[in-house]
Amino acid sequence: MYETNTTHFDKKFIDELSADTGHPFINDITSFEELMMMYSCAIKEVQTKLEVLNMDFGVRYRRNPIEFIKTRLKRPDSIAKKLKQKGCPITVSAIGPNLNDVAGIRVICSFIDDIYAVAEQLIGQDDITLIEAKDYISHPKENGYRSLHLIVQVPVFFADYTRDMNVEVQIRTIAMDFWASLDHKLKYKHSLSNPEEISKELKECAESIAVNDERMQLIKNKIYGESIQPKKKREDFEGKL
Ligand code: GTP
Ligand code: MG
Repeated sequence: MYETNTTHFDKKFIDELSADTGHPFINDITSFEELMMMYSCAIKEVQTKLEVLNMDFGVRYRRNPIEFIKTRLKRPDSIAKKLKQKGCPITVSAIGPNLNDVAGIRVICSFIDDIYAVAEQLIGQDDITLIEAKDYISHPKENGYRSLHLIVQVPVFFADYTRDMNVEVQIRTIAMDFWASLDHKLKYKHSLSNPEEISKELKECAESIAVNDERMQLIKNKIYGESIQPKKKREDFEGKL
């Protein structure tokens, strides 16, 4: 579950893990805790970068491209499930090399061009390495899902070592986020008598949301001028840059 601006790696989280004897990483709980702490710090690093960009844009153009940021650390049971799905051993050392979305950041922007501007500014930073980009805005998923997905690597400086950590960044508009949250509910609701009908309706909604996002962008350009324009074309985000 993505939360808005909260610190995830707190004492309660650790206590919950330790109390849970069915924890999938119970045999190596100390290294698991350490790894989760590291991912939590990686989230903070990237979140701060995004907040800095938002403040800078705000002063420069009198408008904030980012509406809000949500973050989440993948739960231990979801980590174990995904490792299993990928045919990997359920061990702490298998997590880093096999999963890119343990640390997740969702960035909600007002307008489509803001998504690309924020992405471009983030991946252009010296200490950020782009590992993967998937542009589900230029190329929506079959069900209508739209978002820009980046896997970025950021160095995190700990007490006596530095580690490059992967963070998944999903960037989307408010409308795309609204759509995705309803779509997510559909995924977990198995008792529906008419799932195909609902999927079809959701897809139609995704199409009209996309049309309106483009219209809102054009209206915004008329109001503000094209102040924040990404230099890269949208298509440039597809695949590795
Ligand atoms: P997984 O991470 O295993 O899903 O595979 P992947 O890395 O190829 O996935 P992808 O980058 O396409 O999507 C990763 C994340 O994006 C998911 O965990 C969801 O949070 C979100 N996502 C992707 N597709 C959908 C969708 O159809 N609906 C919704 N609501 N979210 C989606
Ligand atoms: Mg993924």
